[in-house]
Amino acid sequence: MRENLIRNGNQIPIVGLGTWQITERNLLKEIVRDAYDVGYRLIDTAAAYSNEIALSKAISENGLPREELFLSDKVWNTSRGYEAVQEACKKSLKKLKTDYLDMYLIHWPASPKLYSNWAEINADTWRGMERLYKDGLVRAIGVCNFKIHHLEELLKEAEKKPFINQVEMHPGLNQKELLNYCNDKDIVIEASSPLGNGQILSNPVLNEIATEKKKTPAQICLRWGLQKGVIVIPKSSNPERIKQNIEVFDFELTEEDVEKIDNIPYCGGIGIDSDEVVEFG
Ligand code: A2P
Repeated sequence: MRENLIRNGNQIPIVGLGTWQITERNLLKEIVRDAYDVGYRLIDTAAAYSNEIALSKAISENGLPREELFLSDKVWNTSRGYEAVQEACKKSLKKLKTDYLDMYLIHWPASPKLYSNWAEINADTWRGMERLYKDGLVRAIGVCNFKIHHLEELLKEAEKKPFINQVEMHPGLNQKELLNYCNDKDIVIEASSPLGNGQILSNPVLNEIATEKKKTPAQICLRWGLQKGVIVIPKSSNPERIKQNIEVFDFELTEEDVEKIDNIPYCGGIGIDSDEVVEFG
C-alpha cells in the first residue's frame, strides 16, 4: 500500500526507499526488488552515495519499468554553480541510464563557515537546477539540509521555489521551526533518517505507543512523520523491515500520541549541522 503527495503539479510517493551506504551491487538489486514488490516507487540516491551505476543495474536486471519509478538524485558539493551542476546531472543521468530524473536535489548548502559568498553560490547552483528543470532533464527540483537562513536567501533569487527540502527528521529531532517555515512557503519536507539511523527505536515512548497500536517502533516513527505531512525515506536491507516500513497506512496516531512523540528529547541520529559542514568527501 502506498500513497502519493500532489503539490503544484508535482506528484511524489510519500514513502520512499533510502539507499545511503548501500553500494554492494547484489544487495542493492535484492533490496530494490523487495521494495518494488511491496509497493515502493520512490528511490532516493545521490552522486555521493556511489551507487548510481549499481542502482541502474538493479532496476534493469529486475526488469522494473522506468516510468513507474520516481528516481531522486542529488548533486554533490564539488559541483556547485550554474555550469557544474548541469554537468553533474548529465553524468548522473548516464550512470543511471535514464534521460530524466523525477527529482534532483542540492545535497548541501554552501556553508557560511567556509564561504563569505555562500548565498551567491547557492543561488548560482539553483539557477543551474532551474535550467535543468526547464530543459526537461529533471521533473522536480529541491534542496537538502537547508536551514531557514539558507532558504530565505535562496527564495530571494529563485524563479522557481524548491519543491522539497530533504533534512534529517525523526522523533527526538522534530524540526519544528523549519517544518513551520517550509509549510508556510509550500516547501515539502522529506525526512532523511526517519528512524534516527535505527538508534531511536528503543525509546520508551515509541515502544509504549507501538505496543498499544500493535505496530513496531519504526512504524510509529514513520506514521508520525506522515501525519506531519512529511515524506519519509527509511533505509533497510532486510526484506521484512522493508515491507514493515511501508505498512503504515492502516492506522493513525492520536493527537495525544503525536504530542508525546513531539516531546521526545534528542536520542540519536546522524546529527550533521549544515552550517558546520566542512567539505567532507
Ligand atoms: P536494517 O538494514 O538491518 O533493517 P534510517 O532510515 O533512519 O537511517 O535508519 C536505518 C537503520 O534502521 C538501519 O540500520 C536499518 O537496519 C534500521 N531499520 C530500518 N527499518 C527498520 C525497522 N522496521 N525496524 C528496526 N530497524 C530498522
